[in-house]
Formats: sequence, C-alpha cells, structure tokens
Amino acid sequence: MIKFIFFFLVLIYASRPGSHATDTISPNQIVTYNETIVSSLENFELGFFNPANSTNHYVGMWYKKISTRTIVWVANRNAPLTDASGELTLTPEGVLIIRDATKGNVVWSSSTTSVTNPVCKLLETGNFIIYDGISQENPIWQSFDYMTDTLLPGMKQGVDLVTGIDRRLTSWKSDDDPGSGEFSYWVDPRGYPQLILTQGRDIKFRGGPWNGRGLSGISFLRPNRFYNFTFVVNPREIYYKFSLVDPSAITRLVVEPSGRIQRWLWIDSEQEWYLYLTTANDQCDRYALCGPYGSCNIDKSPVCECLKGFEPASPNEWIVADWSQGCRRTTPLDCGQGEGFNKYSNIKLPDTRWSWFNETMSLLECEKMCKSNCSCNAYTASNISGGNGCILWFGGLTDIRTMAENGDFLYIRFPRSQIDSIENNQSSRTRRRVRVIVPITCGVLVMLLSILLYYRFNRKKQQQQQEGNKNKFGQDPENRNGDEDLELPLFGLCTIHKATNNFSMKNKLGEGGFGPVYKGVLEDGKEIAVKRLAKTSTQGLGEFKNEVISISKLQHRNLVKLLGCCIEEDEVLLIYEYMPNKSLDSFIFDKNRCELLDWPARYEIIIGIARGLLYLHQDSRLRIIHRDLKVSNILLDKDLNPKISDFGTARTFGGNQIEANTHRVVGTYGYMAPEYAGNGIFSIKSDVYSFGVIVLEIVCGEKNRGFVHKEHYNNLIGHAWGLHNEGRSLQLVAKCLNESINVSQVLRSIHIGLLCVQRHPEDRPTMTSVIVMFGSEVPLPSPKEPGFYVGEPTQDTRQSSSSNEIHSNNKLSITMLNGR
Ligand SMILES: *[C@@H]1O[C@H](CO)[C@@H](O)[C@H](O)[C@H]1NC(C)=O
Ligand SMILES: *[C@@H]1O[C@H](CO)[C@@H](O)[C@H](O)[C@H]1NC(C)=O
Ligand SMILES: *[C@@H]1O[C@H](CO)[C@@H](O)[C@H](O)[C@H]1NC(C)=O
Ligand SMILES: *[C@@H]1O[C@H](CO)[C@@H](O)[C@H](O)[C@H]1NC(C)=O
Ligand SMILES: *[C@@H]1O[C@H](CO)[C@@H](O)[C@H](O)[C@H]1NC(C)=O
Ligand SMILES: *[C@@H]1O[C@H](CO)[C@@H](O)[C@H](O)[C@H]1NC(C)=O
Ligand SMILES: *[C@@H]1O[C@H](CO)[C@@H](O)[C@H](O)[C@H]1NC(C)=O
Repeated sequence: MIKFIFFFLVLIYASRPGSHATDTISPNQIVTYNETIVSSLENFELGFFNPANSTNHYVGMWYKKISTRTIVWVANRNAPLTDASGELTLTPEGVLIIRDATKGNVVWSSSTTSVTNPVCKLLETGNFIIYDGISQENPIWQSFDYMTDTLLPGMKQGVDLVTGIDRRLTSWKSDDDPGSGEFSYWVDPRGYPQLILTQGRDIKFRGGPWNGRGLSGISFLRPNRFYNFTFVVNPREIYYKFSLVDPSAITRLVVEPSGRIQRWLWIDSEQEWYLYLTTANDQCDRYALCGPYGSCNIDKSPVCECLKGFEPASPNEWIVADWSQGCRRTTPLDCGQGEGFNKYSNIKLPDTRWSWFNETMSLLECEKMCKSNCSCNAYTASNISGGNGCILWFGGLTDIRTMAENGDFLYIRFPRSQIDSIENNQSSRTRRRVRVIVPITCGVLVMLLSILLYYRFNRKKQQQQQEGNKNKFGQDPENRNGDEDLELPLFGLCTIHKATNNFSMKNKLGEGGFGPVYKGVLEDGKEIAVKRLAKTSTQGLGEFKNEVISISKLQHRNLVKLLGCCIEEDEVLLIYEYMPNKSLDSFIFDKNRCELLDWPARYEIIIGIARGLLYLHQDSRLRIIHRDLKVSNILLDKDLNPKISDFGTARTFGGNQIEANTHRVVGTYGYMAPEYAGNGIFSIKSDVYSFGVIVLEIVCGEKNRGFVHKEHYNNLIGHAWGLHNEGRSLQLVAKCLNESINVSQVLRSIHIGLLCVQRHPEDRPTMTSVIVMFGSEVPLPSPKEPGFYVGEPTQDTRQSSSSNEIHSNNKLSITMLNGR
C-alpha cells in the first residue's frame, strides 16, 4: 500500500506540468523546440515561438501567467529559423547560441566575453542573464541590454556612457514579424538628454526632455498607483526607467509597428490588455510641425501660431498651412545693452539637441550666463519643481507646443523694446521689495504683526456680527479682500436649505456629473437649480472660488447661467437658473413626449448646442473643454431653447478631484471619444465627438449607449455609419418625427454627426467648421470610419447616476489620465 502511494506520488510529480522546466541553462545543456525556461515564481517563460501567420521561428520571452501570449523579448529577431528544429545552448565559454539543428549552423549568439563557469538564468524581472556562476550582480550579458520593442519595469532605456551600450526600443516590422522595424524610441544624449521617437533618420516625436517631474512632451504622464518613473542623468549613464508601485500590476511600454508608443496594463478580471496611455497622438505631436519659433496649439485652428514677438517667416506659405519655414523675430536682436527675456508658460520645451546644460546652477546664474553670450536664445530651469538647474538654447527653437496646463516655462531673449513691460515691472518690483525688506528691523516687524492681528481681530468681530445667512467664504482676511470685486453672489447655506426643503428627495431633479441637483424656490419666488457637489476636503477654496467666478462670467444664450455659489460647512453648492423643461433626453428618448419636439425644433436645438459649444471652445475667454457633453446635459428653457449645463465643472471640480485622487472618471461612456475613454487624452476634438453622438441621437431618438442593432450588433454610431455608406441614412430618423422632417437638413445633420465621430481627432471638424457646415450648402467631405471605445464597463445603462460617474474600486482607475 505504502509502495503504491509512493508510486502514485512519483507519478504526480512526474506529470506535473512544467516540472521539468527550470529557470537556468547550464553549459552544454540543450533547450529544444518543445522545451521552455520558466522563472522561479513563474512570471516569465522563455522558449521557441512562431508568430501567427508566419512560418518563421524565434526564441522569445513571454508572460507565463497571462492567457494571451504576449512576447516581450526576442533573441534572434533578425535571424529567424525556418523550421521547428532550433536548439538553444550555452557554450562552456559562456556564449548563448541558437542553432539550426537540421542545417547545423548557428543563427544567433550573444556577445559575451569568455568566462570559466557560466550559468544562464531567467530572472523574475524578465531579465535573462549570463553570469559567472557565483554572483548575479554584474551579469556578463543580459537581455535587458538588448531590448526589442518592450520596456519592462526596471529596464533602463538609455545610454551607458561607460560601456557605450545604447538601449533602444525598436518596433517589430509587423505583428507577424519581430524583425527590427522602422521606429525607435531612445534617449538622445546630445545637449540636454531627451527621449525621441525616430523613423529611420527622421525624428517623429519628442517625448521631450525630463523636467525634474516628468517628460516635457508627455504632460499627462503622471504619478499613479501602478508605476512610477524616473530619468537619470549622470556622467556614467543616462536613462529612463519605470518601476512598479503596485507589485501585482502587469504593465509594459511598447513601440508598436505603427510607431505609436503605447502603455498597456493587464486587467486580470477581464483577461485583457488595456491601453493605458498612448503618445504621438495628435497633430501637435508631429515633430517640429510649426517650424522654428512656431508653437502648436491643438485647441486652435489652424494649430500653428508664432510665439509672441515673432511673425511668419514666409507669410504666403504660412497662410496655406505650410508652416515648415516657421517664424522670425519682428525686431532682430542686436546684442545691445538692455536685452532681456520674456517668459512663456505652459509649453513643451523646444528641441534640446543643440542646448547646453548644468544641473546645479541657479536660475539667476542661468539668466546671467545666457545674457552674456550673444548666441544664447533662451534659457530655463532643468528642474521645474526645484526651479534650479540650467538649460541654454543656441539657435532656433523648434517643436514647441502650447499645453492647456502642466507645461514648462521658457525665457526667450528679446531686445529692450520688446521686453514684456508687465513682467519686467514685476520683476523689478520684487527685486526692490527684497532690497527694502532686508533692512527692516525686528521692531518694525513686531509693529507690523500687531497691526495685522488687530486688523484680523476686528474683521472677525465684524464677520460674527453679520447674519448667519451671509457667506463665510474667506475665513481669513486675505481671502476676504478678494470679495470686494466679487461679481458672483454668494448664497447662505440657510437660504439654500430653506429653498430646497433641506435637500428633500422631492426636490431632487436628478444626478449630474458631480453630484445631485435639487430644485429650489427662493423667498422672492425665483426658481433655482442647486447642484450639490460631492464633498471634498482637499479642495483649495480660493482657487475653486476663482474658477467659479470666471465660469460665472461666461454668458451665452445657449449656456445655463450660473447664478452663484455657496461654500459653507463642507458644502459646495452651485446655483443655476432653473430650466422648466428639464433636459433634452426627457423628450427624445421618451416614447410619449418625443412628438413634442418636431424636426424644426430639433434642428434649432442642434444648431443651438453647436453655438454654445463654439462659445466654450473659442469665443469665451476661458476656452473650456466640456468633457461630459451629453443629451442629459442639454437643458431646455420654456421656449425649448437648448442650454448646455455642467460646463466648467470638470475644470473647477474634476481637476481637483483628480489631484485628490478619487476614483472618478469625468465623462460618460457612449459619448466619450475613443482617445479620451481609452487614454484619457482630451481636447476640443473629444467634445466634438460627443457633439456628433448627440446629433445622431437627436435625429434617431435612440441612445448610442445601449443601442444594439438586432442583426449586426452595432451601436448607434456603427449603425448610422453602415446606413450612410449604403445611402440609406433616412432609415435612421426617429419614427415620431413623421412628416415634419426636412430631408436635406436631416441628411446633412447625419453627415455632420458622422464627421464629428471620426476615429482620429485630427479628422474631426472644429466647432467653427461645424457651424459653417450647418449654415451653408457647401459639399461635405466623406466621413472616415467612426471610432468607438470598446472597453465598456459592465454597468446598467439606464441608471443615469451611475453612468455619469464610473467608480472603479478594485478594477482600475483612469482618473489620473485626465490630462491635468
Ligand atoms: C513538439 O511536440 C509536438 C507535440 O507535442 C510534436 O508533434 C513535435 O514533433 C515536437 N517537435 C519537436 C521539434 O520535438
Ligand atoms: C492572420 O492573417 C489573417 C488573414 O490575413 C488575419 O485575418 C489575421 O488577423 C492574422 N492574424 C494575425 C495575428 O496577424
Ligand atoms: C518607485 O516605487 C518604488 C517601489 O515603491 C520605490 O522603491 C522607488 O523609490 C520609487 N521611485 C521613485 C522615483 O519614486
Ligand atoms: C555647473 O555650475 C556649477 C555652479 O555654477 C559649477 O560649480 C559647476 O562646475 C558647473 N558644472 C559644469 C559641468 O559646468
Ligand atoms: C557662446 O556659446 C557658444 C555655444 O556654447 C560658444 O561656442 C561660444 O564660445 C560662446 N561665446 C561666448 C562669448 O562665451
Ligand atoms: C529638483 O528639485 C527638487 C526640489 O528642490 C528636489 O527635491 C529634486 O531632488 C531636484 N531634482 C534634481 C534632479 O535635481
Ligand atoms: C512698467 O510698466 C509701465 C506701464 O505698464 C511702462 O510705462 C514702463 O515703461 C514699465 N517699466 C519698465 C522698466 O519696463
């Protein structure tokens, strides 16, 4: 019996899958085609593989634990085996070779210097090393030095200045061919080091230099809970590297055969790779699109403009969108006395290949140094968080782009006549102040302090005397001073409680993107809508107030008017004018009420929304990207005029929410452009996408999200695209519109809707063009294939509250991608 159990155990042991797999190869050991090497905790597996649709065979490495075979490294990428007769061996001298057993020739070998007792081992990190059999610390060869297209955690992408090894990511030729493709993503050590993507010899995209906090060209790359990253520049090495913060996360950065740099994150619950970030994404990411001294701004049309103080070098070409000549100074430099610098903020730093740097200098030393050399054009700090370090530019400044936020700053040299007077006055003022403050004695300080305290005390008293109904916006005198020029009425919390019956359920109108909305009636009988924002403690109140004030100044007949706000006792409330007809979705998606909006009314609504959006994008001082445009955010006044609501909320509230790191996505699936839903990249073009969805929904009376066609399972956009291509667009029109339709208006609306939902943001029209298209009979371009986000969350479509905010507790949070 015991014998039997023993035999049984042996049998189990022998048949255990992978029991013969080891993580090492010793000299002369042969790994044949059907064998693999597995790291000890089974993170990675190495062996022969054969790409789909290819007859070639390679030695590669993939994740052991992932169901989808994902190759992260290929040894013989440019020397494939043509059949399954390969053998992987370590020679006694410590050279790893791949041999074609039928032909007997060696197709690939590692470049290794001779050692006496070599061992080859696959580490848990995915590094395949050859070491001297004693210490794994300094391997004599490692796969991390010969990366293919994938950057794994811990890999150093960059140059080892001692050994001269240049570790670059190079794309596969195609999905079936791991051979070295055209695109490389690497660290260019010339000047101040920067990450660049090249196609052959041409630069395609600059990830930008490191600014001490992130990469200048990838402003949305920010710390998150999955991984952190660093960039090291020292005399021995220059490299970019990322490390896992969450050790269970599986993420990789890949240069795709198409030249896109993409970060993927494995979602275990869905057994799927999730596209987490992608770069080289919009027109402005194209290297040097606007030429020297030009700046690319994706929110403008055309995207290129000259930096302030510069004009197009060849105006005729500039006008026809040939920006390659760039811009030139309006007044040339003469290196005379009084030359100085103007500051440019929120930009991507220009190409640093011809720059000079010193990481320990102060900004003041930097300015001095630049000033003293006539060929120095611009300078900035190499470490923006510390404001220290120095980069100097000699020659043209190329590949600048204007960022919405989070950009770097740059000081550009100008003759005296062109120095920005305000900026200059400010700096001279601060300098003067510094000089004055120094001689102030302690006595004076004490006196100042007592005056301040007295002032403060009195203020407090005054404040307490005021009725509780009044606002308590600024708890300290500094903030209170700001109230004098406050044009935005502040409502007392009591007033609002009274108006809304203590936020009773009966008064609740619905749930908006950032919290519930209540109807209220003020004492004078005026009706209001109160938005109760989700509570937050980290919110900077002063900043929030300023945002609300600027938003309240936006006035347009197609925007809901913000009447005021209330910030008291942890409550943050926004008070809007009340819209008796509620939102558009209560009409168009309702079988009974849909007839109330006939085609002429719908057409006016579409045009009204377009006008409101254009105002947000272009005509207002703030340039607001709505980010959550949808039918339920379009309210109708008593005359059925559409009014966009919730604009600027993402800006005032969502932005800080992101900093506060709550798990909140701004936006609604079904309306989000694919690049925003998938990668968190938003621009005015993602609003245009949402607008397109709204237009289609208004025409069809169906929700995009939740619409599934009986035959082909397309969503509304896919269905509309299909019908459009077959010339049957009219079949889309909602039944209840009946006789009221104007065929040419309907067809034009569908056509424009499809142009707005095109997959690539650069193909979508701006709102200016949309208005032009609606207002004229000009022929429209053919829409290209629409884009949609496929990775839909499993949520009930009908629950508007939950579709507004996607809470992702243990799945994943894409909030930090929201680009701020
Ligand atoms: C690998 O294994 C498969 C089946 O397990 C077998 O058909 C094939 O001949 C083997 N190939 C080699 C090279 O041993
Ligand atoms: C293989 O080829 C087929 C037909 O050309 C194609 O549909 C499929 O996507 C290819 N598979 C891969 C992985 O490239
Ligand atoms: C990144 O995270 C790892 C693990 O938490 C930590 O050891 C490392 O110091 C971090 N690096 C940076 C640059 O923050
Ligand atoms: C950088 O600047 C510091 C301070 O000005 C100086 O001491 C140092 O030598 C400089 N380093 C280089 C490499 O020029
Ligand atoms: C100015 O800088 C350039 C580039 O570093 C250098 O070649 C030149 O000698 C410098 N001129 C002076 C006067 O320092
Ligand atoms: C940048 O400045 C910050 C703040 O002074 C400092 O903590 C950090 O170490 C600096 N980084 C580098 C690379 O010098
Ligand atoms: C300061 O600004 C005023 C007007 O704003 C201007 O007249 C004056 O020249 C400026 N001073 C300097 C030093 O530029």
